[in-house]
Amino acid sequence: MARRLDGKAVAQKIYDELFLRIEDLRRRGCVPCLGAILVGNDSSSRLYVQNKQKACEQMGLRSVVQTFPADVSEDQLLGHIERWNQDPDIHGILVQLPLPPHLSKARLIEAIDPRKDVDGFHPLNKGLLMENRAHLVPCTPAGILRMLDAYGVPIEGRHCVVVGRSDVVGKPIATLLLHRHATVTICHSRTTHLPDLVRSGDILVAAIGRAAYIQPDWVNPEATLVDVGINTVTAADVLGQIVPEGHPKWAVFLQQGWVLLGDIHPLAYERARAYTPVPGGVGPLTVAMLVYNTVRAAELQVQERGT
Ligand code: GUN
Repeated sequence: MARRLDGKAVAQKIYDELFLRIEDLRRRGCVPCLGAILVGNDSSSRLYVQNKQKACEQMGLRSVVQTFPADVSEDQLLGHIERWNQDPDIHGILVQLPLPPHLSKARLIEAIDPRKDVDGFHPLNKGLLMENRAHLVPCTPAGILRMLDAYGVPIEGRHCVVVGRSDVVGKPIATLLLHRHATVTICHSRTTHLPDLVRSGDILVAAIGRAAYIQPDWVNPEATLVDVGINTVTAADVLGQIVPEGHPKWAVFLQQGWVLLGDIHPLAYERARAYTPVPGGVGPLTVAMLVYNTVRAAELQVQERGT
């Protein structure tokens, strides 16, 4: 039977470790604070930002969310980022993605003080990650490593197949795995022989953004599957094409009218050695690592100010 890797349990361990560090900062007069910028009215983005804010507050951190209408100008956002850059009480800044098309993601992210870039998306932090000396590592990739380590999944010398080449997950997780001495293959929408490559992986990281894309017969029975996808399925006929009636995903769908599926086919999980479920796998770790990065950023800023 495949082992279920529990993201909530690993996230709790991270929060337990952070507790003392947050106490220590508080004694030095610092309550770490996350500032999040939310543009427009996308319901998923709103939910993600709420979850991040809730996690910070549960750990005794402060969090501020600044919302802007979808037609906000880039200059207005740049002005706001600059105010937060200068504000010593804001330790972490994130701009929730995606952004409306008239805004330049690159310009906005580059405007964030790299010391406050808790997403690890600033080009300086990306460069440091390439050199294996980053202080602030993108949250989902950092969370994936925590998950693999928590369950003792060996990385060194193993073949890791990463499906997806995004700046947020694919490229940074490939880099982190390489730094841990894995052999890494990055696959994407134009990769030929994808099923064969997936079959050759000891660790599969699926971050494509397409529900149930990785098929059960592509999976190596010795592999650990890391499913980064969070896809909402709202149509019964779509779910019916993926899993048969009676599958637990149907019970959830019938109860709430929608269900979350990962990028890996739900029937593939049981064919592997271990897997991260959706929900309850990588998602809770992404949030925990954002709290971690906010604390880390606050520690560095306190150190720098010599207080
Ligand atoms: N949108 C999807 N994932 C992320 C993330 O990790 N950070 C930000 N800022 N936006 C996202």
